[in-house]
Amino acid sequence: EKGSFDHYMRKEIDEQPTAIAQAVRGRADGERVAFESLSADAFADARRIHFVACGTSYHAALYGAQLLRDRGVPARAYLASEYAVTAPPTEDGTVLVGVTQSGETADTLAALRRGASEGLRTLAVTNVVGSTAARECDDTVLIRAGPEIGVAATKTFSSQVATLGLLAERIAREVGGSGSAPSGLPAALDDVPDGVETILADSSASALATRYDDSDAYFFIGRGTGHPVALEGALKLKEISYEHAEGFPAGELKHGPLALVTPSTPVFAICTGQHTEKLVGSIEEVSARGAPVVAVAPRSEKEVAAVADDVLWVPETHPELVGVLANVQLQLLSYHTATLLDRPVDKPRNLAKSVTVE
Ligand code: M6R
Repeated sequence: EKGSFDHYMRKEIDEQPTAIAQAVRGRADGERVAFESLSADAFADARRIHFVACGTSYHAALYGAQLLRDRGVPARAYLASEYAVTAPPTEDGTVLVGVTQSGETADTLAALRRGASEGLRTLAVTNVVGSTAARECDDTVLIRAGPEIGVAATKTFSSQVATLGLLAERIAREVGGSGSAPSGLPAALDDVPDGVETILADSSASALATRYDDSDAYFFIGRGTGHPVALEGALKLKEISYEHAEGFPAGELKHGPLALVTPSTPVFAICTGQHTEKLVGSIEEVSARGAPVVAVAPRSEKEVAAVADDVLWVPETHPELVGVLANVQLQLLSYHTATLLDRPVDKPRNLAKSVTVE
């Protein structure tokens, strides 16, 4: 039930503190991570992780792959629809992880089946107990976000990233890699719900949506974990507001997209606190073409705030988790833009919550 909310999407954005807490609860004890449902030998022979997923779940998978690589574990995310037809050569020691909220997305199931048919061990990271992905994979990890009704995935992205963060810790311990030093991520996850609450109470996304709602297009840029968040910010905006939006790795701007940048294309720069100097360079590139720049950044990132026209502030957190909080700001931006334009937020045209055809 929507209760006092106008839309399920808004309700689900607001449920994120609980969703994230549920994803983490009982799974981390200091730096030690354990998943209730995972076989003890789930990663015993693992040497690398390949993710397959679609849409928002693909962005969570890109984020998760980055967290694994940061810990010295070879990892890559593939779009499931592409993997299903052009999978890389099979190598021993690959664990194939399907990230799918519904557990029913046909493209993701096809990719997982292809991997399984070639002998890969498979793991489903899903929200739905008993879903096809959960039944067919060798192992399942639940994200425990609770039901999501809005077509736009919101709380499930946050829960996926929180879960993949813990999974990255668990896999890194087993697979070795260079990531043996404690990252502090499991403990930091406990504070993310409070960070989301702060954003929900203080966000200026509504005012910015009003300021920029007659723009020609909206661009989102980021590096590292800021890149999947940029992609997700653009997907959410185009999906529910029908405005043209694109996400880019910040460094790619000068290789093409910069030609589209004008004073009528606001650029949202996701600043995670990593690679800041390079992001400042990208902001200066678009500012020089007259584009308004909105930084999405922690207050400590003074250099970025100094070169941006506006800032969507993100509470201080672990550098690997800034992206989760930045994404909440972008969800609010999309939501307010879509409601200003009077779009059917919970049921955008041409889209379905669960895409069960390839
Ligand atoms: O159920 P899944 O996570 O497998 O769904 C994958 C995509 O269809 C989904 O994330 C879609 O991109 C979102 N609804 C977009 O908000």
